[in-house]
Amino acid sequence: MLEYTSPAKVNLVLEVLGKRPDGYHELKSIVQTIDLCDTLYFELAEEVSFQCTEPALNTSQNLVVRAANLLKQTTGYGGGAKVLLEKRIPWGAGLGGGSSNAAITLIALNRLWGLNLSHSELAGLATRLGSDVPFFIYGSTALVEGRGEKVTPLDALPTIWLVLLIPPFTGMPDKTRRLFSLLKPEHYTSGEFVSKALESQRKQGGIAPSLMFNTFDKIAFETFPSLEYYWNALQEVGATYIHLVGSGPCLFSAADNRSHAEAIATSLTKKGLKAFVTSTKPARRDP
Ligand code: C5P
Repeated sequence: MLEYTSPAKVNLVLEVLGKRPDGYHELKSIVQTIDLCDTLYFELAEEVSFQCTEPALNTSQNLVVRAANLLKQTTGYGGGAKVLLEKRIPWGAGLGGGSSNAAITLIALNRLWGLNLSHSELAGLATRLGSDVPFFIYGSTALVEGRGEKVTPLDALPTIWLVLLIPPFTGMPDKTRRLFSLLKPEHYTSGEFVSKALESQRKQGGIAPSLMFNTFDKIAFETFPSLEYYWNALQEVGATYIHLVGSGPCLFSAADNRSHAEAIATSLTKKGLKAFVTSTKPARRDP
C-alpha cells in the first residue's frame, strides 16, 4: 500500500490578466502548498474503487476517480486500485484540496502501476482535470500562468505562518466559474504584482505580506455577501494583509511569526469561528 499526503495551497499572489478566446482567463499567480493536508492510500486491485471519509465527497464523480480513469485510458493500463481519501482540508473553500487529491492520485498511480510518466506528462493529464491540478504535480512554490497549465517551480520560500479563516458558506456549487464571470476589464492587472513579488524573492529571499495580492478580493463581498463579517473579524483581532484564498471564500492572513498566528487564531476561535494556523510547506515529490 502507498500512503501520500495531499497538501492544500494558497495563492500568495493571484492576478487575472484578461479573458481568453477559449472562455478561460489568463492568470499569473505565485502558488504555495501549505501544511494542511489530506491523506490518500492506494492499493493494487482489479478495478478502480474509491472511498472518502467525508460523505459529501464519497462519489464516483470525485476528481480522484476521474484522475485514475484518465490515467488508465491514456496509458491503456488494464488493472485498478483501491483508493481511500482521509479528508481534512475544508472543501469548496479555495484551498485546492480536490485538485491536490487529483494530482496526488496521478503521481501515486503512476508509481503503483509502474507507468514511468514524467512530471510534464502528468501535468498534461492534470490540465484535463482542472486548471488548479497541474500546480500540485510540482507543489512547493511555483509561478502559475496560462489558465493554470504553465507551472514554473520557484525556489522554496522561507516559512510563512498563516491564519486561515473558514466561513461557513463553503462548497457553493459552480463557485469558481461564477467568480470569474463577475470580473470586469477594470479588475484585470498586467502581472506587476507577481513581478514585484518575484523581485523581492530574488533580492530579499522572501515575499513580504504587503506584496501579497488577489484579484478576487475586489469582488469578494458581492460574491459572498456575509464575507465582510469574517474579514472584519480578522481585522478586529489584529490580522493585517487579509486576502481570499484562491477564489475563496476561505480567507488568509500572513502573520509575523508562529506565536502571532496562534494568538490571532485563538481570538477567532473564542468568537466561535473556524480558524487554523498553518505554514508554508516546501515538500516536492517525484512522479
Ligand atoms: O478549470 P476548472 O474546471 O477548474 O475551471 C472552472 C471554471 O472556472 C471554468 O469553467 C472557467 O469558467 C473558470 N476559469 C477561468 N479561467 C481559469 C480557470 C478557471 O475562467 N484560468
